[in-house]
Amino acid sequence: MKIGIIGSGTMGSGIAQVAATSGCNVKLYDTNQDALDKAERALEKILARLIEKGRIDNDEKHRIQSNITYVNSLKDLKDSDLTIEAIVENLDIKKKVFSELEGYVSQQCIIASNTSSLSIASIAASLQRPERCIGIHFFNPAPLMKLVEVIPAVQTSDSVLDETVKIISDWKKTVAIAKDTPGFIVNRVARPFYGESLRIYEEGIADFATIDWSLKTVGGFRMGPFELMDFIGNDVNYTVTETVFEAFYYDARYKPSFTQKRLSEAGYLGRKSGKGYYQYDESGKPIGVLNGTSSAVEKSLAEQIFDRVLVMLINEAADALFLNIASAEDIDNAMTKGVNYPKGLLAWADEKGIDWCVDEMDKLYNEYHEDRYRCSPLLRRMKRQSKTFF
Ligand code: NAI
Repeated sequence: MKIGIIGSGTMGSGIAQVAATSGCNVKLYDTNQDALDKAERALEKILARLIEKGRIDNDEKHRIQSNITYVNSLKDLKDSDLTIEAIVENLDIKKKVFSELEGYVSQQCIIASNTSSLSIASIAASLQRPERCIGIHFFNPAPLMKLVEVIPAVQTSDSVLDETVKIISDWKKTVAIAKDTPGFIVNRVARPFYGESLRIYEEGIADFATIDWSLKTVGGFRMGPFELMDFIGNDVNYTVTETVFEAFYYDARYKPSFTQKRLSEAGYLGRKSGKGYYQYDESGKPIGVLNGTSSAVEKSLAEQIFDRVLVMLINEAADALFLNIASAEDIDNAMTKGVNYPKGLLAWADEKGIDWCVDEMDKLYNEYHEDRYRCSPLLRRMKRQSKTFF
């Protein structure tokens, strides 16, 4: 199978590695020669490390490398069966590239975008044959993260969806099919992990380190929300939140936080700038926490923090199911395989009990009277009918 990848940055080069490892013939295109050279050098390093770890041998390394050709003309992608675009997140630029690409490729070629925040319908609208357009959303780093969200637009044909799911599954990825709505599954359902933790901090209930400790120790999350925001970058994470908030017509549930906005404005971006919610040494190791240090935490406080963040995540996942964004299985797979949550949120809801979920949401709503804390109608209906998700 011939794959064309547009953009050889973080995502494009990772996707190229995934496709080449599965035996596809990949053409990786970028307008910037430095970006192409960098991608080629980075792959050499990654594969050398995989040899050191005993995961692949030298022949396999050469096979993967020889499956990728680095090209600097879009026309070179003309034989592709599937193209995946991973260039700058700008609708006008993407549309321009897509309409030019359509002039080179065959009628059957599937044209996909790896966009995180633009609607697939708006990108598809740039094509003469929009039914061949689909979203294929990888997670960073693409070779390591198992999840790929596949997003059919309103224009996408069923056969293009089926074929895309088959190709991505052949690349040994877990596919979650998502509706073409802001944030798809993961970037929508994960919002409270950050937003509710920031709110807990802003209310003065606990400091950053205490909230992180609670979610890791009581909840089993690999990283706390503040560690994770520092890792992702406060600028990047804030922009995703703001984009999702605007795209949902300012639904209070996705409201961004001033705390994060100020940190971002101050240049406290996280690990990459040496300072965020934590301070970091040159190797990126945390050496202190902003605004105080964490003291011993009472178990009841840690549980209270964890329960509040968890129920908000469950409510978001339940509402995504209620609005048919994806199936229950795909919503749970998305969170465990896209962002390494210790459990699927709907399975977690079953474990905690649907009654508990509704009662906790109602407690928050009664306390604050904010729309942010409205309980999903699906949870309420399930409580009435004594149902579970699985
Ligand atoms: P990046 O900045 O690392 O790479 C973008 C590459 O595209 C650069 O090498 C640039 O030279 C090239 N480029 C820009 N305009 C071009 C054009 N007109 N034609 C050809 N090449 C062009 O960006 P990154 O992070 O890889 O993101 C790419 C896309 O993937 C964006 O749509 C982003 O939203 C999406 N995405 C990013 C994720 C991430 O964690 N970085 C995760 C999932 C999706």
